[in-house]
Amino acid sequence: MSYKGPPRRASGILRYLILAAGILGVLFYSRHSARLATFSSSGRLLDPQGTEEHTSIETPVLAQPESEAENQFLGIGSGTAHPIDELIENAEKSFAGVLQKESHNVNDAAAEYRRRRGRHPPPGFDVWFDFAQKHGGIMVEDFFDQIYHDLGPFWGLDPAILRKESYDYEMVINVRGQKATAASDWFWTQIWLNMTSSIADMLPDLDIPLNAMDEPRILAPWEEVNRLMEIERSTRAMAPAKEVHSSFQTLEEQPEKGLQTRDKNWNTEPGSFWVPAIRGCHPDSPARKAAIMTSFNEPPVISLTHALPHLHRGYVSNYSLSTDFCHQPDLQSLHGVFIKPLSISETSVFSPLFGGSKLPTNNEILLPAPMYWANEERFTGGGETGVPWLEKQNKVIWRGAATGGKNTADNWRGFQRHRFVAMTNGTKIERAENWEQLPENWALPSNQYQLAAANEGKLGEWTSEWADTGFVDLVCDDGRDTSTCNHTDAFYSVLPGMHMADQFNSKYLPDLDGNSFSGRYRGFLMSTSLPIKATIFREWHDSRLMPWVHFVPMDNRYMDFWGIMQYFLGYENKATGVHVEGHDAAAQKIAKSGQEWANLVLRREDMQIYTMRLFMEYARLGDDRRDKLGWVDDLL
Ligand SMILES: *[C@@H]1O[C@H](CO)[C@@H](O)[C@H](O)[C@H]1NC(C)=O
Ligand SMILES: *[C@@H]1O[C@H](CO)[C@@H](O)[C@H](O)[C@H]1NC(C)=O
Ligand SMILES: *[C@@H]1O[C@H](CO)[C@@H](O)[C@H](O)[C@H]1NC(C)=O
Ligand SMILES: *[C@@H]1O[C@H](CO)[C@@H](O)[C@H](O)[C@H]1NC(C)=O
Repeated sequence: MSYKGPPRRASGILRYLILAAGILGVLFYSRHSARLATFSSSGRLLDPQGTEEHTSIETPVLAQPESEAENQFLGIGSGTAHPIDELIENAEKSFAGVLQKESHNVNDAAAEYRRRRGRHPPPGFDVWFDFAQKHGGIMVEDFFDQIYHDLGPFWGLDPAILRKESYDYEMVINVRGQKATAASDWFWTQIWLNMTSSIADMLPDLDIPLNAMDEPRILAPWEEVNRLMEIERSTRAMAPAKEVHSSFQTLEEQPEKGLQTRDKNWNTEPGSFWVPAIRGCHPDSPARKAAIMTSFNEPPVISLTHALPHLHRGYVSNYSLSTDFCHQPDLQSLHGVFIKPLSISETSVFSPLFGGSKLPTNNEILLPAPMYWANEERFTGGGETGVPWLEKQNKVIWRGAATGGKNTADNWRGFQRHRFVAMTNGTKIERAENWEQLPENWALPSNQYQLAAANEGKLGEWTSEWADTGFVDLVCDDGRDTSTCNHTDAFYSVLPGMHMADQFNSKYLPDLDGNSFSGRYRGFLMSTSLPIKATIFREWHDSRLMPWVHFVPMDNRYMDFWGIMQYFLGYENKATGVHVEGHDAAAQKIAKSGQEWANLVLRREDMQIYTMRLFMEYARLGDDRRDKLGWVDDLL
């Protein structure tokens, strides 16, 4: 690739970086080969060039002559910019394209709806559009994609069954005659009820079954969802405007008394969640084909092999794909939810349920999570957004409990939070670099990331300069009711908690999954600091946030983390003269645009706009005349 025009700043930096790394390699390799060596998480020594790790990589991209494959990862010869420069540039372009799709009046919005969804908008579309416009909503049809992803398969379910099973559930919000009520006083129901009530005067009659658990519950097999989606596609049509009904049905107090709710066969066996979760993957996917792991006692194997489809030269280029585990069978031993969730109650019967988050293979219908609507201090920073960028510390801060699921003496090594806290602990890294102690549950980075500190054998020292991470509670499952934990006490110290508002005094905020999704994410986005996000969960807002524009995406193995930090912070060793330029301004820019964007599209008003649209679509699905129901005022 050759660029015309003025030389780019980044090219000089990268050339310098490669040069510096190369010189270092020559200088240090012979004398300190042990220091340069990395070992895999299983404790096997990898040779300093990382070739052993290399041969374990099997994807098409790297099934090439070795040097060429390596070059592709490093990007040598394939361009001059740092991969993160390229990712940011591409993301900014795509985002500008998305913004151009904004609709400014209801007719344009309806036309865009028909173009994208292949149906008429639901009845009440004009009321919805008015409400959205009055409340400053940015009207881009793409921002509602998640709704259509979630609701699509319901076109394959009989409307009467949908009405019956929506009503017949333990936790339900009922909307009748523009009033919302709920029999359950569970606090999540009450928060969602509050949100629903705030728009109830514009809603049709409907019943909204709610997931009371942290963990998602509906996991229909891929084959079943595919069958339902074929029905969706075959019924996708636009009736002539004159034949379209423009008002919703009214519902009886208790719909479909004569129908029987199907037996869901709830599976509540404690154990791995991986097996149910992969039901929703394509039958030919690596997840469905891989061996099922049953022991998590050994240090997990951490390799980028299965991450390559969503990486560009080592960094996340397809964020939504990175959250999907169907091509990543190794995640079964790298996430607490798969290893041993807190609780399980799941069914393979495709049936309606609303929830705040889910795995990509779950069939729940996403609502904004209760903590986002409730604005709780521990999730939002209490309205604090932090000091200005230049006054912040050049540091990474993370505090949290050792959640992820039930961690025990023979499985904690696979838990994601444990991994992150360990691999950002400078003492542990130093001991690994010096061969004093093999990593228990993480791996030193591969040479492919060209970390200047690692090349100097100073990854631990460097990480200590900027990483401030730790557990506030070891929440383990050894039967004692304390914050200590027999099986992890030796590896972690318990640190005092820190208010979110104080965390905003640091520039960098990693955001990791716990027992399910991380509820602080919205607070992080709305702050003046920079969220670095890895997750396997989906949320309502996913189609409105752009990675590398509004936040920094990270792979779920976290092996790219040091590379991300080197890109932003740079590296300097006066003694050896090694210098890698940082990109503080790039970090500041993403933090700022993330905050500005969150204040435009993640407000409570935006949750109302999203939820109202979702409920209108859901009410149409439960209507026997659904194929002929729509808003067509613009066509008449
Ligand atoms: C929602 O809750 C808030 C705070 O408790 C309350 O002020 C408001 O009136 C409630 N809104 C509705 C529609 O119930
Ligand atoms: C991400 O990957 C999915 C699945 O392969 C693909 O459909 C989508 O177009 C990709 N998105 C981007 C932005 O490349
Ligand atoms: C925790 O460790 C202590 C000391 O090794 C031991 O006495 C105790 O029985 C252990 N507790 C449990 C619940 O395993
Ligand atoms: C960092 O690692 C050391 C060595 O394993 C350990 O003693 C210490 O408690 C760890 N620090 C934190 C904050 O967990």
